[in-house]
Amino acid sequence: MIKHDYPLLGHNTFGMDVKAARFLEYDSIEELQEMIRQGLIVEPWLHIGCGSNILFTKDFAGTIVHSRIMGMETVAEGDEWVDVKVGGGVVWDDFVRTTVERGWYGAENLSLIPGEVGASAVQNIGAYGVEVKDLITEVEGVDMKSGEIRLFTNADCDYAYRHSIFKTELKGRYAITHVTYRLGKKPVLHLDYGNIRAALPTDKTELTAADVRKAIIDIRNAKLPDPKVTGNAGSFFMNPIVSTEKYEELQKLYPSMPHYDAKGGVKVPAGWLIEQCGLKGITQGSAGVHKNQALVLVNHGGAKPEEIVALSDFVRGKVKEKFGIDIKPEVNFV
Ligand code: EPU
Repeated sequence: MIKHDYPLLGHNTFGMDVKAARFLEYDSIEELQEMIRQGLIVEPWLHIGCGSNILFTKDFAGTIVHSRIMGMETVAEGDEWVDVKVGGGVVWDDFVRTTVERGWYGAENLSLIPGEVGASAVQNIGAYGVEVKDLITEVEGVDMKSGEIRLFTNADCDYAYRHSIFKTELKGRYAITHVTYRLGKKPVLHLDYGNIRAALPTDKTELTAADVRKAIIDIRNAKLPDPKVTGNAGSFFMNPIVSTEKYEELQKLYPSMPHYDAKGGVKVPAGWLIEQCGLKGITQGSAGVHKNQALVLVNHGGAKPEEIVALSDFVRGKVKEKFGIDIKPEVNFV
């Protein structure tokens, strides 16, 4: 069951060629609990999904854990909504595709995000005006020390932009085994972000979740590199939230700067800041800033972790120098 010195190349979308001292996968809660009971999950441990938001900076000395809990079950239903409980190991976009095929609304804007269901609840994944916290009703986790199952309500998870309790207070405590999402049966579409409307069919009077999914897939494919072709972990940095004073100061200098209202200030796109520094499309060794979306760092082939880290530091330094803003990585450095 345990694999030793296990290559992680196929388990991280950045394509870092590193190894894990121990690698374990489980198919059910019972199997995970048995592994915990037997003391197989030697610390430090790290639970991964598709490895789509991770930068492995070196070989991992502990245990990498991966869920293969599958399944998608309707657990409650009303006239206008349905609650679906999904296994933590289900590929996120397989879930989204299924919801759209069943004519359910809510997840379509989150189409094609790499990763798995368990990680969606940890990262609070978001795109095109929707965050997964808008859909989550319950998260089920297993305490990696005691093996006990705990249910978290949406409020328990302390969700905010790219944030949850599983990234702070409870970091390294729970494996997420199932997530329950509430989808709508009536069309409620979120079309106000960026260029979604321009990507939708013009000849239809009633748009469906399937139309929106197709538009999102087209937009993502045009902007974001396919990790199967070019190693990357999506947005490398978070969009910083600056104070209103800082925003007003910048706005005077850069009147066309895109911005969004946010809790605690104004959110400024880090991709725009990086592009303004003249860094879009640059390469340093085998690492680069993506040519179509400056928020994404890429592995052009065989990049070593230190090359990505060096580029990340370089980009952060330039943005800090020009704008006085410290952009923080969204990707987890391990
Ligand atoms: N922009 C630039 N230059 C760039 C990139 C962006 O000027 O190189 C500008 C765009 O023109 C636009 C604004 O910045 O005015 C926002 O760009 P975009 O819509 O591409 O979104 P983002 O803020 O760069 C965030 C998420 C993405 C998500 C998109 C769409 C974060 C860290 N990233 O990116 O999420 O797909 O919005 O909702 O919040 C991810 O997390 O991995 C990810 C891809």
